[in-house]
Amino acid sequence: MSSSDSGTHKLWGGRFAGGPSPLLDAINRSIGTDFRLWPHDIRLSRAWALALGEAGVLTREEAEQLRAGLDRVGVRLAEGAQPVATDEDIHTMIDRLLHEEAGTVASKLHTGRSRNDQVATASRLWTIDACHKLDAAIRELQQALLTQATSIADAILPAYTHLQRAQPVSGAHWLLSHFWPLERDRTRLANAARGAATLPLGSGAIAGSAFPVNRELIRNELGFHAISPNSIDATGDRDFVAETLFVSTMTAVHCSRIAEDLIIYGSSEFGFVRFGDGFSTGSSMMPQKRNPDVFELARGGGARVLGDLVSLLGTIKGLPSGYSKDLQDDKRALFNAIDLLHLVLPAMAGAISELRFDRARMRAAVSSAMMATDLADYLVKKGATFREAHGAVGSLVRQAEEAGIEMTELPTEAFAQAHVLFGADARDALGAEASLAARNIAGGTGPEAVRAQLAQAAAALAAPALA
Ligand code: ARG
Repeated sequence: MSSSDSGTHKLWGGRFAGGPSPLLDAINRSIGTDFRLWPHDIRLSRAWALALGEAGVLTREEAEQLRAGLDRVGVRLAEGAQPVATDEDIHTMIDRLLHEEAGTVASKLHTGRSRNDQVATASRLWTIDACHKLDAAIRELQQALLTQATSIADAILPAYTHLQRAQPVSGAHWLLSHFWPLERDRTRLANAARGAATLPLGSGAIAGSAFPVNRELIRNELGFHAISPNSIDATGDRDFVAETLFVSTMTAVHCSRIAEDLIIYGSSEFGFVRFGDGFSTGSSMMPQKRNPDVFELARGGGARVLGDLVSLLGTIKGLPSGYSKDLQDDKRALFNAIDLLHLVLPAMAGAISELRFDRARMRAAVSSAMMATDLADYLVKKGATFREAHGAVGSLVRQAEEAGIEMTELPTEAFAQAHVLFGADARDALGAEASLAARNIAGGTGPEAVRAQLAQAAAALAAPALA
């Protein structure tokens, strides 16, 4: 290999008489995407150099020259070193810089390794780091939800099924319904990080390195939990990317569902919530507009992250075992999804912190028919079967609807006629506060249950990250 002689720097090419077509370079070049892997690539190369030295493949002195050279390359990259036109990918660029920093000993670093086990290792290191950063961003959003939930713990609003008014709930109960899905995402993220922490390095191109490097030493240096048991699998395995993309997709979907609730509840028709100035946009034509663009973009972003997951799964499903160049695009999907979430999550957290809730509008949307279940429960407590009670209350609902009045406004005789067990206190069962108070069951919307839930949410956030 000595393309450096011709002014370029390549990791391959000796077996070709002619140089690559510029058209190949154009489609093959991945440094625009994988440049960000550089800190991880340097880290794994330092570990590889150490292992080569320990194995006696290089002298200890050579290994140290490589490690010191890699450190200087790291400094240059941190200071803004940029790729040149012939840097095919970040591994090539680092190799070029290492030759500049360390001289000919740099040509020994790639002994016994391939970019196949190298890129798989660098991508895994990047992914583990990304899982930690995503966890922190999700926690910020959860904190914003928890703070707002606490502030509207005693507000009452309708909960909807089929987007039809169903039963009254506490404001905190509704907002925390969006907290727990994110908590599950954090558990999934911890599993994804663990799944990524299996070391491919030492697998070579596909059959394993022919040099007796100590993979356990490298595993320990890089903080991985395990060593890959099969070099063919290790170089072609992108399950860890798929898993991280799946978690990302779930998080994006959860953000989208929060956004959808808030967009609806922020409409003039609902009016439960007002978007803050800092997170609202206006219209170029209609001066009155206060648009919830952050939430709409979060909803739209969900589709893009899902697209990244589908794109990755589509890429790997038809591949033969081992490495194929299709896998180069795993990073495009992974980075796109994670980058987008780092826009969506903080913007959502900020927009949610600025929400102003209108308790009166929430409360006014709770109509007495929403306590029809409570009225049926009243009859059950007096000895009726639930089926019978359901029928009796249903007839009252119909009468109120036909008369265009609230159920509480129905005459006492209507109750008596509907069921003999209705007493003078029947209307009390139609109160929203009573409805909530009856639901202090664990996980319910009763005031005590919600207080416990708020404490549970706070405890979840206080637990160590990526536990
Ligand atoms: N840039 C490549 C990637 O990201 C590195 C691995 C190249 N391997 C190879 N056999 N050409 O997948």
